[in-house]
Amino acid sequence: MEYETPQFFRVIQYAASADRDVVDMVSGSPDWNPPDSLREGLHEYADADPGDFQYPPSVGLRELREELATRRGVDPQQIIVTNGTGEANHLAMAGGLDAMPGEEIILTDPVYPYYAGRANHLGAETTFVPVTEDGHADPDAITEAASEDTAVIVVNSPNNPMGVTYSADTIERLVRVAENNDALLVSDEVYDHFDYAGRFESALAVDSDHRIVTNAFSKSMAITGWRVGYAVFPDPDGPNGNLLDEARTRHMLTNVTGSRPPQAAVLHALRHTDPDYYEGVRDLLRERIAAFTDALDAVDAEYTEPEGAFYVMARFPGFSGTFESVERLIDEAGVAGMPGEAFGEARADWIRFSLTTDRVETAADRLVEFFG
Ligand SMILES: Cc1ncc(COP(=O)(O)O)c(C=O)c1O
Repeated sequence: MEYETPQFFRVIQYAASADRDVVDMVSGSPDWNPPDSLREGLHEYADADPGDFQYPPSVGLRELREELATRRGVDPQQIIVTNGTGEANHLAMAGGLDAMPGEEIILTDPVYPYYAGRANHLGAETTFVPVTEDGHADPDAITEAASEDTAVIVVNSPNNPMGVTYSADTIERLVRVAENNDALLVSDEVYDHFDYAGRFESALAVDSDHRIVTNAFSKSMAITGWRVGYAVFPDPDGPNGNLLDEARTRHMLTNVTGSRPPQAAVLHALRHTDPDYYEGVRDLLRERIAAFTDALDAVDAEYTEPEGAFYVMARFPGFSGTFESVERLIDEAGVAGMPGEAFGEARADWIRFSLTTDRVETAADRLVEFFG
């Protein structure tokens, strides 16, 4: 698989040029509203003094880092505010590869393709460890794969593309694998608010100098275009304290600093958003999951039980997960998903559907008609 070019553009373009109406279940861009307080924060910012329109600290607005630190139970100096989870993952993976002794990055299969593209781009050796039957990272298999050659292990829970959430025990074991191999666990938690079974556990719950947690407001506040994320680094006075210094430098030399208006608005939203906002979005997604999985049941498709994030991975009898199959589904059923083969080999027969459209029921009806 060629991971350097994001393959979802290929599918989106194909769907856009189709000769019929197509329900787009390809991208992970929320179609629901952000919290009202977020819009309020941005409006307020527009009227601020000119001084507030100048460079924020390179590591992010002080009050935002303090707010995040209180929420995450860490010291503010451990946090760098980044250009989304994407940059946070980049700082973590590049820094881990530089600082830790090995040359290898371990990823799961299926994988969020940007991890694989980045690992290749950084010149790392990559090892893909297949997920378990029920779609979770497999700590036994990752333990077996890891060695003194391993520099970084990247995991993501709640998970894209599998739509599952790893247990606390899995997360703890993954941190220990990193520790035992003098490696770094990068835990991407960008879907942390999308946990339907109450199963999510942050890697921050496991005290260690061998893990970096990455996150953003892209999904939780429905603002993938705003680019506010963050990474939590190990204690700067601990044995891997150099990871933070290195990342600060990398971040500053790449960006100078982050963009200030969205940081100010996110800070306002964090302070003024009621938990009901997040529960309302989860309820909306629960309804979409139910409508979609009813259709999958009706056509005897196999699927991974959706526990987290907003994706459903499914396999239809006698229908593969190639780009060609997905194009056929676009043309003949009017539903666009992502081919399983875009995420690796383990689920190459599967197709991933993103529930970020208010036309999930239409898609469900169309799939029943096509496969029924
Ligand atoms: C697992 C995962 N990590 C990171 C990202 C990118 O997040 P951001 O928009 O915050 O950079 C995505 C986007 O779909 C994702 O699925």
